Amino acid sequence: MRNKKISVKNIYKSFENKVVLNNLSLDIYESESLSIIGESGSGKSILTRCIVGLLNYDNGSINFENLTNINALNDREKMNYMSKFGILFQNSALLDSLNIKENLKFASKQDSFTKILSEVGLPHSVLEKYPSELSVGMQKRVGLARAILKRPEVLILDEPTTGLDPIIARQINLLIKSLVRKKKITTITVTHDMESVYEFADYVAFLKNGIIEWYGKAKKINQSKNSSLTNFIKGIN
Ligand SMILES: Nc1ncnc2c1ncn2[C@@H]1O[C@H](COP(=O)(O)OP(=O)(O)OP(=O)(O)O)[C@@H](O)[C@H]1O
Ligand SMILES: [Mg+2]
Repeated sequence: MRNKKISVKNIYKSFENKVVLNNLSLDIYESESLSIIGESGSGKSILTRCIVGLLNYDNGSINFENLTNINALNDREKMNYMSKFGILFQNSALLDSLNIKENLKFASKQDSFTKILSEVGLPHSVLEKYPSELSVGMQKRVGLARAILKRPEVLILDEPTTGLDPIIARQINLLIKSLVRKKKITTITVTHDMESVYEFADYVAFLKNGIIEWYGKAKKINQSKNSSLTNFIKGIN
């Protein structure tokens, strides 16, 4: 039995004259891992920013469990709403002038990060290091640690493997897989990396021309007859 957690209903988002989301609807289910794929500029990041409450949509509604139309939340409610999400930004978004311990403290005031570090496969010694002293793969791990630190209800990963070499990308995919499978956390991943999709997505939403052009089980994606989707997959492989 699938429980609907987030329901995106007929939303529109435009910038000046450019329509980015055009009557888009999408349901996201509890404990599932959803990957959002689509060409560059198709609106993947805008959609996720609307979902987490960082950006208002122009029309339609986004509902989260019994919260309806998150656009209408007041500032205090919006802050509370946003705290449900753990976000890994595309560039890991660590603060360069702070060491890793301070970067993690920014997300949570706790004193011990031992458990979270072991969950993302990092040694305790990284706490005293600065982001520039870590490899890009290690920075991603720190970004992931920060995203899951407060045990969010929903994890948002924006291009978790972009810019990584194939070996590190695979390690990160396997790490996300173990987090997603063990914790059964509701996860939305924006990605260009089909390995990520095959490795840890339960469902896939393919975005095109401002709508979800195809939605289905990740396992069934290669059986799809949707030519836009098959061309997209061929194009990036
Ligand atoms: N602040 C903005 N002002 C004007 N246009 C914007 C703004 N933000 C995004 N856009 C436009 O909205 C469209 C969708 O952007 P978005 O960042 O969601 O794409 P994306 O699917 O995440 O692409 P990528 O794979 O390259 O990250 C793009 O055409 C972009 O130019
Ligand atoms: Mg993007």
